[in-house]
Amino acid sequence: MSIPADTWGIPASQFWLRGRRPERTVDYDAATGMWNVYGYPEIQHVLSDPRTFSSDTTRLMPAKVAERTSALSEGSLLQMDPPEHTKLRKLVSHAFTPKVVADLAPRIADLANELLDDVGDRMEMVEDLAYPLPVIVIAELLGVPGSDRHLFKKWVDALLQRDQQFSLVDESDEQVQQVEEAIAQVKHLTDYLGEHAAERRRAPREDLLTKLVQAEVDGHRLSDTEVVNFANILLLAGHITTTMLLGNTVLCLDTHPRQRDAVRADRSLVPSAIEESLRFFSPFAVLGRVTQREVEVGGQTIPQDQMLMLWIAAANRDPRQFADPDVFDVTRDPNPQIAFGRGIHFCVGAPLARLEGKVALNILLDRFPHLRTDPDEGPTFLPAPTTTGVRKLPLLLTPS
Ligand code: HEM
Repeated sequence: MSIPADTWGIPASQFWLRGRRPERTVDYDAATGMWNVYGYPEIQHVLSDPRTFSSDTTRLMPAKVAERTSALSEGSLLQMDPPEHTKLRKLVSHAFTPKVVADLAPRIADLANELLDDVGDRMEMVEDLAYPLPVIVIAELLGVPGSDRHLFKKWVDALLQRDQQFSLVDESDEQVQQVEEAIAQVKHLTDYLGEHAAERRRAPREDLLTKLVQAEVDGHRLSDTEVVNFANILLLAGHITTTMLLGNTVLCLDTHPRQRDAVRADRSLVPSAIEESLRFFSPFAVLGRVTQREVEVGGQTIPQDQMLMLWIAAANRDPRQFADPDVFDVTRDPNPQIAFGRGIHFCVGAPLARLEGKVALNILLDRFPHLRTDPDEGPTFLPAPTTTGVRKLPLLLTPS
């Protein structure tokens, strides 16, 4: 079954969600000055070789943009290469041990139930559950009040409303202005986190921010900027994508009633339904990498210092890897989807996101036997070409 991608406002560039395949799996785009990589084996190749394909994309930014973004990338795990990446990653891995994550299950269930206590005979999935749940969980983990989420939302929403594809060759004032606007929003967040981090230096607590200010990597403490940027990434990465995952999963099941009935009848299918949702609608649609030398990818020779856009969302629809890739199948096995990336940067929060997805979906299915989308008000998606996620999903909860 195909989905009404245009009606739902799925970004126009996401052709793979319209049942189409790329003409070439590796393709240079002169308009953005970047190489688009759409194929699964090609992306697997790039992600498995961080020496050749660096995550430090900042050095290719147009000068005017780089000047403005440099303060934000210091301490950003996502944009680091080994050996710095290895050290910082070790530090954060201690905070996200399987036990830390598993112990959060009862708190996640309580929060989900509390949030759902407030809904009547209808709800808006994103506002009522998919946004507040992961943001409160990550805020509590960091040690900032979950009740401040309305502040984060304002700043983060402003970041996600951009529907422009970023370009390396565009030195226009318009692009610089857009970057400045985005940075202004991020700065609200970093200022906010900076105040909390300073407070933890004075008065340590049992939370992740305290762990970060106290952490030592090879005898070095993290600088204030590093702590704040890193906490910022956790806060952003910890909820934006999980919000999308929760909303997308409910939409996928609603659009595929037989699959939904199968999951309702056999809850052991919930985890594989979540994996299939990640494959079918991958929230974080694209990853960036920079070539450190001339290299061949998918039969194309790519010079040194080129930016690669790895469209993991398209690779998750690659027929060379997935049989019937446009079919949503909760029993797909194996399902080697790469929505959490692969290799040394594999998502640190994947176990947490999976747990939140599992707990939330089970509670929704338990509490609302008639849960379905509103036929008079369909879903809408976020407009950013780099994301695939519902922005609004009105649901009816009473029998039809
Ligand atoms: C990395 C996706 C949830 C924290 C990544 C990467 C992807 C990803 C694709 C790899 C980036 C790259 O290779 O360049 C997702 C998705 C999520 C999710 C789809 C939810 C459905 C979370 C959560 C957290 C988190 C809940 C934190 C609590 C991180 C961090 C990294 C990362 C810190 C950087 C890892 C590194 O560079 O070594 N995520 N993420 N993510 N994610 Fe997630």
